[in-house]
Amino acid sequence: MSDRDRNSGLLGTVFAILSGVIVSLAVGVWALGTPGNDPVGAAAVTAGTFMEGKFRWLRAEPENVPQDWVEISKTVRGGDPQRGATLIAQYGCGSCHVVPGVARAHGTVGPDLSGFRDRAYIGGVLSNEPGDLVDWLMNPTTHAPDTAMPDLGVTETDARHMASYLYTLRGS
Ligand code: HEC
Repeated sequence: MSDRDRNSGLLGTVFAILSGVIVSLAVGVWALGTPGNDPVGAAAVTAGTFMEGKFRWLRAEPENVPQDWVEISKTVRGGDPQRGATLIAQYGCGSCHVVPGVARAHGTVGPDLSGFRDRAYIGGVLSNEPGDLVDWLMNPTTHAPDTAMPDLGVTETDARHMASYLYTLRGS
C-alpha cells in the first residue's frame, strides 16, 4: 500500500466520522426546532428507564430485595442468636410463650413466638424492629402498662442476644 493510498483511506474514515457527526447534529437541531419536541429529554427518559430496569436489583428496596432474616438477626448489634436461645430458656420465657428451638417453651399465656419476625407489631404497641424489640424485652410494662408480660430485669446485652434469636424464627 502506498502512502497516498493510506492517506486517502485515513481521510475517508475522518470524513465518514465527521459527516456522521454533522448529520446527527442536523437531525438534533431540526428535532429541537420542532415545537413540542424534546428529543434530549425524551432520550434521557428512555435511557433512564432502561438503566433503571438494569439496575433495579442494586437498589435496597424492601419489595425487590428478599429479606434475609438471618442477616437481620445479626443486625441486632451485639446479638448472638445461639446465646439468645440459652437465655430465653434461663429467663423462663417458655413458661408463657411457645418458642421453637427452646426446650420446654410451650407456654400459652403470651403469643406463640413462631414466625415472630413476620409480625408487624410487638405487643401491639411497638413496630417490630430490632431496637424496639430490645426495648420491649427489657421493659414491656413501660410500653404496654397493662400487659401480662412482666419486667424480668433483662439486661440490654441479654435482650440483644434474645432479640437476635427471635428474628431467626420462621413461621410454621
Ligand atoms: C408471665 C408471662 C410472660 C413471660 C414470663 C414472658 N412473656 Fe413475653 N409476652 C407475654 C404476653 C402476655 C405478651 C403479649 C403482650 C401484649 O400484647 O401486651 C408477651 C409478648 C411478648 C412479645 C411480643 C410478641 C408479639 O407478637 O407481639 C415478645 C417478643 C415476647 N413477649 C418475648 C418474651 C421473652 C423473650 C421473654 C423472656 C425474657 C418473655 N416474653 C417472657 C407474657 C410473658
